[in-house]
Amino acid sequence: MKITTGLTAMMMLGCSALLPITSAAAEGVEINHLGANNTLVRVKGDGRYLILPVQDSRDDAKINVLVDGKLVETIYARLAMSKTDYNVPFDLTPYKGHDVVLDIVTPQGRNSVREAKEDACWKGIGLSDTFDVSNKEKYRPAFHHTPLYGWMNDPNGMFYKDGKWHLYYQYNPYGSKWQNLSWGHSVSSDFINWEHLPTALVPDGLGYIFSGSCAIDKDNTAGFGKDAVIALYTSAGTSQMQSLASSTDGGTTFTALPANPVITLESEARDPKVFWNDDTKEWNLVLAHALDHEMLIFKSPDMKNWELMSSFGNGLGAQGGVWECPDLFELPVEGTGESKWVLLCNINPDGPFGGSGTQYFVGDYDGKTFKVDTDKDGNVPTKWLDYGKDHYATVSWSDAPNDRRTVIGWMSNWQYAAEVPTMQFRSANTLPREMGLFRADDGQIYASCAPSPELEGMRGRLVQKVGKTGLSNKSRSYSLPTANDGICEILLDIEARKAKVVKLSLSNKLGDTVLMKYDAETRTLSFDRTKSGIVDFSEGFPAVTVTPTYESDGKISLRLYVDRSSIELFGNNGRFVMTNLVFPNKPYTELSISSEGGNARLSDLKIFSLTPSK
Ligand code: FRU
Repeated sequence: MKITTGLTAMMMLGCSALLPITSAAAEGVEINHLGANNTLVRVKGDGRYLILPVQDSRDDAKINVLVDGKLVETIYARLAMSKTDYNVPFDLTPYKGHDVVLDIVTPQGRNSVREAKEDACWKGIGLSDTFDVSNKEKYRPAFHHTPLYGWMNDPNGMFYKDGKWHLYYQYNPYGSKWQNLSWGHSVSSDFINWEHLPTALVPDGLGYIFSGSCAIDKDNTAGFGKDAVIALYTSAGTSQMQSLASSTDGGTTFTALPANPVITLESEARDPKVFWNDDTKEWNLVLAHALDHEMLIFKSPDMKNWELMSSFGNGLGAQGGVWECPDLFELPVEGTGESKWVLLCNINPDGPFGGSGTQYFVGDYDGKTFKVDTDKDGNVPTKWLDYGKDHYATVSWSDAPNDRRTVIGWMSNWQYAAEVPTMQFRSANTLPREMGLFRADDGQIYASCAPSPELEGMRGRLVQKVGKTGLSNKSRSYSLPTANDGICEILLDIEARKAKVVKLSLSNKLGDTVLMKYDAETRTLSFDRTKSGIVDFSEGFPAVTVTPTYESDGKISLRLYVDRSSIELFGNNGRFVMTNLVFPNKPYTELSISSEGGNARLSDLKIFSLTPSK
């Protein structure tokens, strides 16, 4: 078939001799164009990586990787046509000493092989022993976890073991848009510095490796050995099914169960979250029955054989989007002897401000069925874990120490994640957060998410310290640090007193401004990023997000983390949270605070510069 295409193309071009059309070969490779849309690239030299030039706006080329003539993997990459935006490396290490050929089918759009030969990718493709992953992009975070290059969405499979927080993530190593879904892998012992490890799970015969979870099998219930790390994830091929993979080297490498899949259903279901239920002494698993807007709960003695016990959610909460990435765990309710169960339910679209968001339900779980709390009128209120636009797919670490329920999210939104103005990488994680529960005035129990305590380790110089200060309609301004593009942590307390509104803004000399308003009457805080910098890459990006503050005394304590392209706002020790991306043309340099409708009070303002991650 391939040969026919090549011959046909040459005959159409009127070639007299049936010779392959070879372009000026880039370093260490031989390129044979077989037709307008088909090219063979043969590795001829030595080099660790085959460098693939990418143009983000192109469609994917399908690349079959042949090793000694056998198809070993298929990857997709947006090979550059008119210009190269960035490169991605294809690691040749596993195939060293073998004959490697890439059989590439480029997207339609070329009329002739001669035209196709001009594509930028053929000039840039070549071998290299190195690939530059240094953090150079303007908007690449300084202290948030990001992949070194390529696309990332949901956090996956997080577990804690031997002092290390393992974080896997939905990863495309061959471009900065969603594709080739694998599990990237990083570890940290302090939530500040992340070590990037080799990709842990790559697509196999059952499909892409979609989201899922890990747990440590302390009692060897699955038979892979004591303390084996067991991953349960969605295999996404033509349909979605759940698979198991085990690791006996602490989560570095995984072996898929030959008998996969372990759960199949007749409709779309994904993102299994597994946990050990110590009351019933069995494994439980929550699975998103995506299009049915419900979560399914299974049990198993060995993580291989699963039995469906119950379902939850039909008709409850936000229902406008698909249900994804569940989690289910128990937490104490602050200041009471009580504990409750929380069911996390990520949903896309129909988030609180469009696109994706994380809703949650509070209730009881008896090891079989989740029963949700109702309000005084018998209704099930919709609750959101974070009232920003850029917080999704949040799930918790398994096996965390000291009963911690530490969660992390994907800091983006499906509305525009693939369009944000970055190139060699796309998306970061939120900062890790400690979850808790508290009862608010309305009698309802809500979740809190406070920054993980380790994050205080990033603090550098205290650049501002202000005690009690009156606020009026005349703004008070404070300079933000300039080092490291102004990354900082801002802490302050506000007492509204006579004021109706207290305004805070972060701005730069170019006029880029983020405006936050605490409304003492409605007990809400808004975050306006419509003038925050670059906002025009997507209609969904310019937005004002609003969170309830859940207090009744007009007092709020704020803690803001400002990175190069994000602001996370934690209020009253995480009782309200907003995570929003921002792309200022230049870093914000000033914090201004004022009040409207009467005088307010500011106290304990502290601004710390932050040390970037290593
Ligand atoms: C959520 C999600 C999951 C799925 C993954 C695929 O963002 O859609 O449901 O497993 O992303 O990348």
